[in-house]
Amino acid sequence: MEIKKVGVVGLGIMGSGIAQISAEAGFDTLGHEINLEYLNKGIKIIEDSLNRGIAKGKYEKSYKDEVLAKLKGATDPKELSDCDLIIEAITENLELKKELFRKLDDICNKKTIFATNTSSFSITELAVCTSRLEKFVGMHFFNPAQVMKLVEIVQTLVVSRETINTVFNYALSMKKQPILVKDSHGFVVNILLNPYFVEAVRLLEQGIASVQDIDQAMKLGAGYPMGPFTLMDLAGLDTLVSAFDYTYNVYKDRKYAPPLLMRKMVQLGYLGRKSGKGFYDYSTDPPQPVNLNI
Ligand code: 3HC
Repeated sequence: MEIKKVGVVGLGIMGSGIAQISAEAGFDTLGHEINLEYLNKGIKIIEDSLNRGIAKGKYEKSYKDEVLAKLKGATDPKELSDCDLIIEAITENLELKKELFRKLDDICNKKTIFATNTSSFSITELAVCTSRLEKFVGMHFFNPAQVMKLVEIVQTLVVSRETINTVFNYALSMKKQPILVKDSHGFVVNILLNPYFVEAVRLLEQGIASVQDIDQAMKLGAGYPMGPFTLMDLAGLDTLVSAFDYTYNVYKDRKYAPPLLMRKMVQLGYLGRKSGKGFYDYSTDPPQPVNLNI
Protein backbone atom coordinates (compact mmCIF):
# COMPACT_ATOMS: atom_id res chain seq x y z
CA MET A 1 0.00 0.00 0.00
CA GLU A 2 1.28 3.46 -0.86
CA ILE A 3 1.39 6.11 1.86
CA LYS A 4 0.64 9.66 0.72
CA LYS A 5 -1.15 11.35 3.60
CA VAL A 6 -0.05 10.87 7.21
CA GLY A 7 -1.85 12.08 10.32
CA VAL A 8 0.11 12.62 13.52
CA VAL A 9 -2.14 12.88 16.56
CA GLY A 10 -0.54 14.77 19.45
CA LEU A 11 2.08 17.41 18.70
CA GLY A 12 4.13 17.30 21.89
CA ILE A 13 7.85 16.68 21.76
CA MET A 14 7.57 13.26 20.08
CA GLY A 15 4.60 14.01 17.81
CA SER A 16 6.04 17.28 16.53
CA GLY A 17 9.35 15.53 15.76
CA ILE A 18 7.55 12.73 13.91
CA ALA A 19 5.38 15.22 11.98
CA GLN A 20 8.51 17.18 11.01
CA ILE A 21 10.42 14.18 9.62
CA SER A 22 7.30 12.94 7.85
CA ALA A 23 6.84 16.31 6.11
CA GLU A 24 10.58 16.45 5.39
CA ALA A 25 10.32 13.09 3.65
CA GLY A 26 7.67 14.63 1.36
CA PHE A 27 4.49 13.11 2.85
CA ASP A 28 1.39 15.28 3.16
CA THR A 29 1.32 15.47 6.93
CA LEU A 30 -1.59 16.55 9.10
CA GLY A 31 -0.74 17.33 12.72
CA HIS A 32 -3.70 17.06 15.07
CA GLU A 33 -4.08 18.62 18.51
CA ILE A 34 -7.03 18.94 20.85
CA ASN A 35 -7.20 22.73 20.65
CA LEU A 36 -5.68 25.69 18.84
CA GLU A 37 -3.34 26.58 21.69
CA TYR A 38 -1.68 23.13 21.68
CA LEU A 39 -1.69 23.02 17.89
CA ASN A 40 0.16 26.35 17.69
CA LYS A 41 2.64 25.15 20.32
CA GLY A 42 3.33 21.99 18.30
CA ILE A 43 3.80 23.90 15.03
CA LYS A 44 6.15 26.28 16.85
CA ILE A 45 8.31 23.36 18.05
CA ILE A 46 8.66 22.30 14.40
CA GLU A 47 9.40 25.84 13.18
CA ASP A 48 12.01 26.30 15.93
CA SER A 49 13.66 23.01 15.01
CA LEU A 50 13.80 24.02 11.32
CA ASN A 51 15.08 27.49 12.26
CA ARG A 52 17.94 25.86 14.22
CA GLY A 53 18.86 23.93 11.07
CA ILE A 54 18.92 27.18 9.06
CA ALA A 55 20.98 29.01 11.73
CA LYS A 56 23.50 26.12 11.68
CA GLY A 57 23.72 26.37 7.87
CA LYS A 58 22.32 22.84 7.45
CA TYR A 59 19.80 24.05 4.88
CA GLU A 60 18.35 27.15 3.20
CA LYS A 61 15.28 29.08 4.34
CA SER A 62 13.47 27.77 1.26
CA TYR A 63 13.82 24.24 2.71
CA LYS A 64 11.82 25.29 5.79
CA ASP A 65 9.09 26.74 3.55
CA GLU A 66 8.98 23.49 1.53
CA VAL A 67 8.64 21.40 4.70
CA LEU A 68 5.95 23.66 6.17
CA ALA A 69 4.03 23.52 2.87
CA LYS A 70 3.74 19.73 3.39
CA LEU A 71 2.44 20.21 6.92
CA LYS A 72 -1.08 21.18 7.92
CA GLY A 73 -2.67 21.47 11.33
CA ALA A 74 -6.12 20.41 12.52
CA THR A 75 -8.14 20.37 15.71
CA ASP A 76 -11.10 18.49 14.21
CA PRO A 77 -10.40 14.73 14.17
CA LYS A 78 -12.70 14.36 11.12
CA GLU A 79 -9.91 15.89 9.03
CA LEU A 80 -7.91 12.71 9.67
CA SER A 81 -10.53 10.54 7.98
CA ASP A 82 -8.74 10.14 4.63
CA CYS A 83 -5.19 9.59 5.94
CA ASP A 84 -3.37 6.48 4.73
CA LEU A 85 -1.53 6.23 8.02
CA ILE A 86 -2.21 7.75 11.44
CA ILE A 87 0.52 7.83 14.07
CA GLU A 88 -0.76 8.38 17.60
CA ALA A 89 1.69 10.27 19.81
CA ILE A 90 -0.51 11.62 22.60
CA THR A 91 0.33 11.54 26.28
CA GLU A 92 1.32 8.12 27.71
CA ASN A 93 -2.09 7.36 29.24
CA LEU A 94 -3.68 4.03 28.35
CA GLU A 95 -7.33 5.08 28.77
CA LEU A 96 -6.87 8.26 26.70
CA LYS A 97 -5.20 6.25 23.94
CA LYS A 98 -7.99 3.67 23.93
CA GLU A 99 -10.64 6.39 23.76
CA LEU A 100 -8.80 8.07 20.89
CA PHE A 101 -8.48 4.87 18.86
CA ARG A 102 -12.19 4.05 19.32
CA LYS A 103 -13.03 7.51 18.00
CA LEU A 104 -10.57 7.31 15.09
CA ASP A 105 -11.88 3.87 14.13
CA ASP A 106 -15.35 5.34 13.66
CA ILE A 107 -14.11 8.37 11.75
CA CYS A 108 -11.43 6.93 9.47
CA ASN A 109 -11.54 5.21 6.15
CA LYS A 110 -11.30 1.39 6.45
CA LYS A 111 -7.96 1.41 4.57
CA THR A 112 -6.25 3.71 7.11
CA ILE A 113 -3.40 2.08 9.02
CA PHE A 114 -3.21 2.95 12.72
CA ALA A 115 0.16 3.16 14.45
CA THR A 116 0.89 4.01 18.06
CA ASN A 117 4.11 5.53 19.31
CA THR A 118 3.51 4.15 22.81
CA SER A 119 6.74 3.23 24.58
CA SER A 120 5.36 0.56 26.86
CA PHE A 121 1.64 -0.21 26.53
CA SER A 122 0.44 -3.41 24.88
CA ILE A 123 -0.17 -2.82 21.17
CA THR A 124 -2.72 -5.65 21.24
CA GLU A 125 -4.69 -3.98 24.04
CA LEU A 126 -4.94 -0.82 21.93
CA ALA A 127 -5.61 -2.68 18.67
CA VAL A 128 -8.67 -4.45 20.09
CA CYS A 129 -10.34 -1.06 20.61
CA THR A 130 -10.64 -0.90 16.83
CA SER A 131 -12.16 -3.00 14.06
CA ARG A 132 -8.88 -3.10 12.08
CA LEU A 133 -6.64 -5.59 13.86
CA GLU A 134 -4.74 -6.39 10.67
CA LYS A 135 -4.01 -2.68 10.16
CA PHE A 136 -2.82 -1.83 13.65
CA VAL A 137 0.86 -1.63 14.50
CA GLY A 138 3.36 -0.08 16.92
CA MET A 139 5.82 2.52 15.60
CA HIS A 140 8.09 3.51 18.45
CA PHE A 141 10.30 6.50 17.69
CA PHE A 142 13.07 7.87 19.94
CA ASN A 143 13.67 11.35 21.24
CA PRO A 144 14.76 13.53 19.46
CA ALA A 145 12.87 11.92 16.58
CA GLN A 146 14.59 14.21 14.09
CA VAL A 147 17.96 12.68 15.01
CA MET A 148 17.54 9.18 16.43
CA LYS A 149 17.73 6.60 13.65
CA LEU A 150 15.79 3.73 15.21
CA VAL A 151 12.09 2.95 14.87
CA GLU A 152 10.77 -0.17 16.61
CA ILE A 153 7.99 -1.63 14.45
CA VAL A 154 5.86 -3.68 16.81
CA GLN A 155 3.77 -6.53 15.43
CA THR A 156 0.77 -8.13 17.11
CA LEU A 157 -0.20 -11.76 16.50
CA VAL A 158 -2.66 -10.74 13.79
CA VAL A 159 -1.31 -7.65 12.00
CA SER A 160 -0.97 -8.24 8.25
CA ARG A 161 2.33 -8.60 6.42
CA GLU A 162 1.16 -5.80 4.09
CA THR A 163 0.79 -3.39 7.04
CA ILE A 164 4.24 -4.28 8.38
CA ASN A 165 5.82 -3.83 4.95
CA THR A 166 4.04 -0.50 4.44
CA VAL A 167 5.20 1.03 7.73
CA PHE A 168 8.71 -0.41 7.24
CA ASN A 169 8.94 1.36 3.88
CA TYR A 170 7.51 4.55 5.36
CA ALA A 171 10.19 4.50 8.10
CA LEU A 172 12.90 3.88 5.49
CA SER A 173 11.59 6.85 3.44
CA MET A 174 12.22 9.01 6.51
CA LYS A 175 15.82 7.68 6.58
CA LYS A 176 15.11 5.69 9.75
CA GLN A 177 16.33 2.20 10.52
CA PRO A 178 13.28 0.06 11.43
CA ILE A 179 13.55 -3.16 13.42
CA LEU A 180 10.76 -5.68 13.87
CA VAL A 181 9.73 -6.48 17.43
CA LYS A 182 6.95 -8.71 18.77
CA ASP A 183 4.34 -7.06 20.98
CA SER A 184 5.74 -7.01 24.51
CA HIS A 185 5.92 -4.40 27.26
CA GLY A 186 8.83 -2.04 26.64
CA PHE A 187 9.87 -3.76 23.38
CA VAL A 188 13.69 -3.83 23.10
CA VAL A 189 15.04 -0.40 23.98
CA ASN A 190 12.91 0.53 26.97
CA ILE A 191 13.03 -2.90 28.59
CA LEU A 192 16.81 -2.39 28.73
CA LEU A 193 16.82 1.36 29.43
CA ASN A 194 14.20 1.47 32.20
CA PRO A 195 16.09 -0.60 34.83
CA TYR A 196 19.17 1.51 34.02
CA PHE A 197 17.20 4.70 34.79
CA VAL A 198 15.71 3.18 37.95
CA GLU A 199 19.15 2.15 39.23
CA ALA A 200 20.58 5.62 38.54
CA VAL A 201 17.83 7.23 40.66
CA ARG A 202 18.40 4.68 43.43
CA LEU A 203 22.12 5.55 43.48
CA LEU A 204 21.11 9.18 43.91
CA GLU A 205 18.55 8.40 46.62
CA GLN A 206 21.18 6.42 48.52
CA GLY A 207 23.64 9.32 48.29
CA ILE A 208 26.22 7.17 46.46
CA ALA A 209 27.04 9.93 43.93
CA SER A 210 25.64 13.23 42.62
CA VAL A 211 23.50 13.76 39.51
CA GLN A 212 26.42 15.32 37.67
CA ASP A 213 28.90 12.61 38.67
CA ILE A 214 26.56 9.75 37.71
CA ASP A 215 25.98 11.44 34.34
CA GLN A 216 29.72 11.94 33.82
CA ALA A 217 30.39 8.35 34.84
CA MET A 218 28.14 6.91 32.14
CA LYS A 219 29.41 9.33 29.48
CA LEU A 220 33.10 8.93 30.20
CA GLY A 221 33.10 5.40 31.57
CA ALA A 222 30.59 3.72 29.28
CA GLY A 223 30.60 5.96 26.19
CA TYR A 224 26.93 6.96 26.37
CA PRO A 225 26.18 10.27 24.56
CA MET A 226 24.23 11.49 27.61
CA GLY A 227 24.17 10.40 31.23
CA PRO A 228 20.95 8.85 32.67
CA PHE A 229 19.68 12.05 34.36
CA THR A 230 20.15 14.20 31.26
CA LEU A 231 18.42 11.49 29.23
CA MET A 232 15.52 11.13 31.70
CA ASP A 233 15.02 14.91 31.56
CA LEU A 234 14.92 14.65 27.76
CA ALA A 235 12.42 11.76 27.77
CA GLY A 236 10.15 13.43 30.41
CA LEU A 237 9.82 12.20 33.99
CA ASP A 238 6.01 11.94 33.79
CA THR A 239 6.25 9.72 30.70
CA LEU A 240 8.86 7.55 32.38
CA VAL A 241 6.96 7.15 35.68
CA SER A 242 3.86 6.15 33.73
CA ALA A 243 5.90 3.61 31.71
CA PHE A 244 7.65 2.24 34.83
CA ASP A 245 4.30 1.85 36.65
CA TYR A 246 2.82 -0.05 33.74
CA THR A 247 5.83 -2.32 33.24
CA TYR A 248 6.12 -2.97 36.98
CA ASN A 249 2.44 -3.93 37.16
CA VAL A 250 2.93 -6.40 34.34
CA TYR A 251 6.18 -8.07 35.50
CA LYS A 252 6.03 -7.35 39.26
CA ASP A 253 9.80 -7.05 39.18
CA ARG A 254 11.47 -4.44 41.41
CA LYS A 255 13.87 -3.50 38.64
CA TYR A 256 11.02 -1.62 36.92
CA ALA A 257 9.48 -0.05 40.04
CA PRO A 258 9.44 3.78 39.82
CA PRO A 259 11.56 5.31 42.60
CA LEU A 260 9.63 7.49 45.07
CA LEU A 261 11.91 10.42 44.27
CA MET A 262 10.74 10.47 40.64
CA ARG A 263 7.10 10.26 41.63
CA LYS A 264 7.50 13.24 43.99
CA MET A 265 9.32 15.23 41.29
CA VAL A 266 6.45 14.62 38.87
CA GLN A 267 3.97 15.78 41.54
CA LEU A 268 6.02 18.99 41.88
CA GLY A 269 5.95 19.56 38.12
CA TYR A 270 9.65 18.73 37.67
CA LEU A 271 9.07 16.91 34.40
CA GLY A 272 12.42 17.52 32.74
CA ARG A 273 13.36 19.80 29.87
CA LYS A 274 9.79 20.33 28.74
CA SER A 275 8.80 21.99 32.05
CA GLY A 276 12.14 23.80 32.48
CA LYS A 277 13.17 21.70 35.50
CA GLY A 278 13.83 18.05 36.17
CA PHE A 279 17.04 16.65 37.57
CA TYR A 280 18.56 19.80 36.03
CA ASP A 281 17.35 23.40 35.93
CA TYR A 282 17.24 24.54 32.29
CA SER A 283 16.97 28.27 33.04
CA THR A 284 20.78 28.48 32.98
CA ASP A 285 23.26 27.57 30.27
CA PRO A 286 24.71 25.07 30.96
CA PRO A 287 21.86 23.61 33.04
CA GLN A 288 22.66 23.07 36.73
CA PRO A 289 21.45 20.19 38.94
CA VAL A 290 18.36 21.24 40.91
CA ASN A 291 18.61 21.53 44.69
CA LEU A 292 16.48 18.82 46.28
CA ASN A 293 16.25 17.73 49.91
CA ILE A 294 16.88 14.08 49.16
N1 3HC B 1 15.71 18.32 17.78
C1 3HC B 1 16.28 18.31 16.56
N2 3HC B 1 17.59 18.12 16.35
C2 3HC B 1 18.36 17.97 17.43
C3 3HC B 1 17.85 17.98 18.74
C4 3HC B 1 16.46 18.17 18.88
N3 3HC B 1 15.87 18.17 20.08
N4 3HC B 1 18.87 17.80 19.60
C5 3HC B 1 19.98 17.68 18.86
N5 3HC B 1 19.67 17.77 17.56
C6 3HC B 1 20.59 17.64 16.43
C7 3HC B 1 21.51 18.84 16.36
O1 3HC B 1 20.95 19.88 15.61
C8 3HC B 1 22.72 18.22 15.69
O2 3HC B 1 22.50 18.14 14.30
P1 3HC B 1 23.74 18.31 13.28
O3 3HC B 1 24.77 17.27 13.66
O4 3HC B 1 23.13 18.04 11.93
O5 3HC B 1 24.22 19.70 13.48
C9 3HC B 1 22.76 16.78 16.21
O6 3HC B 1 21.44 16.52 16.67
C10 3HC B 1 23.72 16.62 17.34
O7 3HC B 1 23.37 17.56 18.34
P2 3HC B 1 24.41 18.35 19.24
O8 3HC B 1 25.71 18.49 18.52
O9 3HC B 1 23.77 19.60 19.75
O10 3HC B 1 24.55 17.47 20.53
P3 3HC B 1 25.02 15.98 20.71
O11 3HC B 1 26.13 15.63 19.79
O12 3HC B 1 25.18 15.84 22.17
O13 3HC B 1 23.76 15.10 20.27
C11 3HC B 1 21.83 13.93 20.88
C12 3HC B 1 22.50 15.28 20.85
C13 3HC B 1 21.64 13.39 19.47
C14 3HC B 1 20.47 14.12 21.53
C15 3HC B 1 22.77 12.93 21.68
O14 3HC B 1 23.13 13.51 22.90
C16 3HC B 1 22.12 11.60 21.95
O15 3HC B 1 22.13 10.72 21.09
N6 3HC B 1 21.57 11.45 23.15
C17 3HC B 1 20.86 10.21 23.54
C18 3HC B 1 19.43 10.31 23.09
C19 3HC B 1 18.68 9.07 23.40
O16 3HC B 1 19.19 8.09 23.94
N7 3HC B 1 17.38 9.10 23.05
C20 3HC B 1 16.49 7.99 23.36
C21 3HC B 1 15.71 8.37 24.59
S1 3HC B 1 14.65 7.07 25.09
C22 3HC B 1 13.27 7.32 24.18
O17 3HC B 1 13.12 8.27 23.44
C23 3HC B 1 12.22 6.29 24.36
C24 3HC B 1 10.94 6.90 24.89
O18 3HC B 1 9.96 5.91 24.75
C25 3HC B 1 11.03 7.29 26.35
